Amino acid sequence: MDRKKITVRHVVPSDVPTLVELDHRVWKTKEQQADSYTFIERIKNCGDTCWAVFIGKAAIASLYIMGVTHKQVMKSNSWDQITDKGTARSSIPYSQEWFGIGLAATQNAKKADAVEKLMTEAAIEALRLGIRYVYLGSPIPGLRKWLKKNRDKGINEYVYAKKVDNLPLDPQLRYYYKEGFRKIVQIKQNYFPHEKSLDYGVILRLENPFWRMKIAFRLLPTFLLRLIIHFFMKYI
Ligand SMILES: CC(C)(COP(=O)(O)OP(=O)(O)OC[C@H]1O[C@@H](n2cnc3c(N)ncnc32)[C@H](O)[C@@H]1OP(=O)(O)O)[C@@H](O)C(=O)NCCC(=O)NCCS
Repeated sequence: MDRKKITVRHVVPSDVPTLVELDHRVWKTKEQQADSYTFIERIKNCGDTCWAVFIGKAAIASLYIMGVTHKQVMKSNSWDQITDKGTARSSIPYSQEWFGIGLAATQNAKKADAVEKLMTEAAIEALRLGIRYVYLGSPIPGLRKWLKKNRDKGINEYVYAKKVDNLPLDPQLRYYYKEGFRKIVQIKQNYFPHEKSLDYGVILRLENPFWRMKIAFRLLPTFLLRLIIHFFMKYI
């Protein structure tokens, strides 16, 4: 691991080049990748809920969130529509509902627990703001292969399929399930360009059971909140 300092903080406009580089590392096709303009706009529109983990000045993981309404998420057909092509122009400040615009991490990020660090920052903010629901649209990268083997079956069966351990069959749904996103809210066709997922996206939702307790969380010092969140992340 690089010996440079690892930091987690809100992103700022001067981070845009490294954020673009990270995005282009995790998303391989042009139609999946965001450009500098998109990141600049996103930071302008919802920068208070966008964080990244850095090694020195290089971003190794990032998490972007915007304020939404349930209706907006449900009625939109695609990631482009929900997020205004990634710019988050329609982000609602102080909304009690969040939508995860994007999560990205390099291979190196795992060694630095980078995604856990990002989730913790977001959780601190969510507890203090009394956020009730967090939505995200997950790809389902196992779909194409599964449908080839199960020609008589459909998309719904795949999305709800479980392994013997009772966790989702799809690796990314499984990943988010472990992060607490357990409720499948909607399946959207042509959600986001992703070959292995046949462009489908699954809208998942996490409910914050403590959303009514924001005043109490505002009184707690950050280090204590971090400890509580760490405990919950281990045992949810
Ligand atoms: C999703 C992402 C941020 C997770 O990063 P991470 O927390 O460091 O975790 P990993 O990438 O090591 O994945 C953790 C586990 O989830 C599974 N997983 C997550 N996303 C997956 C995917 N797209 N395809 C296959 N497996 C996936 C992995 O198999 C892995 O399982 P393992 O622990 O048994 O090896 C990272 O994989 C990434 O940047 N992916 C590309 C962009 C993306 O899909 N973003 C999310 C859009 S909603």
